[in-house]
Amino acid sequence: MSPIMPAPGLEDFAAFVAERTGLYFPPERLTDLERAVARAAPELGFADAAACIGGLLASPPDKERLETLAAYLTVGETYFFRNKSDFGAIENIILPAIAAGMNGDESVRIWSAGCATGEEPYSIAMLLDGGAPALKGRGVSILATDINSSALREAGRGVYGEWSFREVPPHIRDKYFAKTTGKKMALLPRIKKKVDFSYLNLVEDSYPALLTATNAMDLILCRNVLMYFRADLAEAVLRKFQASLKDGGWLILGPAEGPLNFPGPAPALKPAQIPGVTIFRKTGGAQPADAPVFPAETPAPVFSITPAMGTTAPVPPAPPPAGPPSAAGLLLLARGRANLGRLAEAEELCSKAIEAGKLNPLAHYLLGIIFMEEGRDGEAAHSFRRALYLAPDHIPAHLALGNLFLRGGKAAQARGHFKNAAALLKRYKPDETLAEPEGMAAGRLLAIARSALARCAHD
Ligand SMILES: C[S@@+](CC[C@H](N)C(=O)[O-])C[C@H]1O[C@@H](n2cnc3c(N)ncnc32)[C@H](O)[C@@H]1O
Repeated sequence: MSPIMPAPGLEDFAAFVAERTGLYFPPERLTDLERAVARAAPELGFADAAACIGGLLASPPDKERLETLAAYLTVGETYFFRNKSDFGAIENIILPAIAAGMNGDESVRIWSAGCATGEEPYSIAMLLDGGAPALKGRGVSILATDINSSALREAGRGVYGEWSFREVPPHIRDKYFAKTTGKKMALLPRIKKKVDFSYLNLVEDSYPALLTATNAMDLILCRNVLMYFRADLAEAVLRKFQASLKDGGWLILGPAEGPLNFPGPAPALKPAQIPGVTIFRKTGGAQPADAPVFPAETPAPVFSITPAMGTTAPVPPAPPPAGPPSAAGLLLLARGRANLGRLAEAEELCSKAIEAGKLNPLAHYLLGIIFMEEGRDGEAAHSFRRALYLAPDHIPAHLALGNLFLRGGKAAQARGHFKNAAALLKRYKPDETLAEPEGMAAGRLLAIARSALARCAHD
């Protein structure tokens, strides 16, 4: 139930929360903040939200109480092997590149920042256990941190329910988990012990530091964390990640975090072109600043912990010889090729799909995405506009065009598209999934659109 009157001091409290945790509650989300505080109040020893807000503003909480509060304010949504393209890229591109640049017995250092209940770092541990050949005989350390101590405790237990396995094929579950009581599954101790969990608040100055083992990182994953942050604080985190990375190190953000203001806050972090992955690589040291951050012949990311796993969206089989292929069939093929980074083939298939069904907005949208991946921004904009001409309510095309404008420095035009996307998304229930982009929940897309809008305002 929404409160009739906002609690006094709510806006000041939102500013206080942002300063202490990075989390951004814009005016339209103040009621969410108030509800979360009302839930946290009893555990913090207050009768209700108003008393809690007044009390915490008058006497700022110590670390323990801040952790308690943060646990009620943060979104802990996560699951194993979330965004498979990221894991394909880690296995096939990043780890080999890291290993190739190493001398002697140096070990590989990986950090999952904002790890929630541990599914992300444990996915990496499983991937490495699958025998990443590039790392044969090399030590690997995996650090996993979060502001939410109860999530960290869950992570340490390593016991998970069905929901965490929504993208995991059964044989991986069978290989690395044992059944416990109820429907829960416990991660094998030998995988569990590969990850070190610890508390770390990303807006604090505790990194990079030897003490927190957050220095000299080869790879940082900070996915689906900064999209909830106030823009200036997200930028400060990016600056610190830049300092935490070795020269040549990699940073992966969430799929929705592309519009973060690169290269502004962290000029040494250059975007690397890997389809489906929001990734940056730190230049410097042996790498000349203007060197391509990525080899031209990029191996296609294929998520395959073991050869038998085969969970990547496979390249769909060729269409049957009889009869002309339908636009839908061609689009399915095009998507498969694009997922594997075979963009020229994907583009050709999309063009054929457009010929087969000119009025298909999805075909124009997908072609736009392919152009965008290839850096052909003008053609991408044209394709997205076509999609919107055919379907003015096409949410992904609005989001994509917004991102395109934002990356071209046209914040005003970007804002219009993000606003349209947000308005359209409000028609859905937050947990309703949309076919495009890739079955994402409406609530999550709305958060993305809002966070992009905040960034437009900042530009
Ligand atoms: C949506 S989860 C992302 C989990 C995982 N990275 C993924 O993509 O599946 C966001 C996590 O960021 C954490 N977080 C939010 N603010 C933080 C902060 N200031 N410092 C560290 N972690 C933070 C939350 O506690 C939450 O666990």
